[in-house]
Amino acid sequence: MAARDHRATLQRALRAHQSDRLDVAERLYRQVLQWHSAQPDALHYLGVLCHQRGRSDEGVELVRAALEITPRHPDAHNNLGNIHKECGRPVEAEACYRRALECSPGHHNALGNLAVVLEVQERLDEAFEAYGALLQQAGDDARGHYLMGLFLRNHAQHMEHLEQAAACFRRSFELDERGLRALEALGVTLYALQRRDEARQVYRDWLAREPDNPVPRHMLAACGGAEAPPRADDAYVRELFDGFADSFDEQLLKNLDYRAPQVLADALGAVLGAPASALDMLDAGCGTGLCAPLVRPYARHLAGVDLSGGMVDKARVRGGYDTLDVAELTAYLQGHPAAWDVVLSADTLVYFGDLQEALAAARAALRPGGWIAFTLEAMDEDADRAELTPSGRYRHTRRYVERVLAAAGFELPRITPDALRREAGQPVPGWVVLARVPSSVAGETA
Ligand SMILES: C[S@@+](CC[C@H](N)C(=O)[O-])C[C@H]1O[C@@H](n2cnc3c(N)ncnc32)[C@H](O)[C@@H]1O
Repeated sequence: MAARDHRATLQRALRAHQSDRLDVAERLYRQVLQWHSAQPDALHYLGVLCHQRGRSDEGVELVRAALEITPRHPDAHNNLGNIHKECGRPVEAEACYRRALECSPGHHNALGNLAVVLEVQERLDEAFEAYGALLQQAGDDARGHYLMGLFLRNHAQHMEHLEQAAACFRRSFELDERGLRALEALGVTLYALQRRDEARQVYRDWLAREPDNPVPRHMLAACGGAEAPPRADDAYVRELFDGFADSFDEQLLKNLDYRAPQVLADALGAVLGAPASALDMLDAGCGTGLCAPLVRPYARHLAGVDLSGGMVDKARVRGGYDTLDVAELTAYLQGHPAAWDVVLSADTLVYFGDLQEALAAARAALRPGGWIAFTLEAMDEDADRAELTPSGRYRHTRRYVERVLAAAGFELPRITPDALRREAGQPVPGWVVLARVPSSVAGETA
């Protein structure tokens, strides 16, 4: 095969890969490798693609094979680091990013990624230094300013850190006006700084530019600048999480205190007994699928549903579910009467103010004796109410949760306080909620 032909095929493969036509790209990379089994770019990018399709071990082998042939290829080291990072191996990832930087000291992506994995390992001084080096080398790198802002906000110990974070988010958005996550982060941070009028103005300006964008609409309501909806609307959830899908696990890895999936799995473990692969379970708001490995041993059938196609794609790669659907969870539950033994929902009903309809739907979707388990953010008041907070999520009082569970027909509610995540350096108080459908109900068979 002429070199010209394999180069042309490789170019077609790369174009298909960039436009997410992964089947086509994989076929073309493999074709190149049939002609030329040691073609390093085909090995490298096929490795990245295998990881994207959930075959991470094969991906690692392929990128390593590429590096045997071209050991000083910084992008290949960086991409191998990304595979390790996304598989939760920060130590291996760090070594790869350091190699990428040895080969190319000005590799901004590798430097930003190195900072992230140092932060994941709680080596905060080194992480801060690496973010600082990135901004020194590439002062006009919007991602660098955004990452530094998140770092300062995640680990804020003084108001001054939040001020600096706000400045980073503002700069990031000035450098890249498509970087809407930076704008949202700016609004949330200004609010945390009690600069509420400025926060509202960020969202008003954003809405003026993009009147149909559900994110500033929701966030303006969250800051008290408009009436709060009973739950976050579907368009907001989709926009937020589709845009978040790629970095969701990374953000959570950095926030080591995000414990909702584990805490929920532990609470369920205490009532379900020994895992026996016997239950039909639904993960409602499954996101990238963090709950799947934790509850899979209990399940005969594990389904996941989520509004965000981007998050569901990640869950598919992570694996563990028998079925995955992109749908609104209340409607999905309503469409599956008496279908499940367990419905669990980690950090998802925080996007609901009014829980009545969703819990009634869950009650009808559960079989007699079935369990519902979910987490919420806690409002520590004696009142019976819920409210939308400036983070864009809702929080609920214990009395509200008890009343709504009872109205939906659940029994034995256990509502345990716990801190399920950390924000702006502070733990966010939450509820871990467990309740059961009575085991024999008139008109239903056990
Ligand atoms: C913070 S993530 C949590 C994901 C996962 N449960 C976890 O703990 O990693 C919240 C998820 O809820 C989903 N979500 C929010 N409202 C929803 C709704 N009404 N129907 C379905 N999914 C929803 C979002 O798309 C997002 O993936």
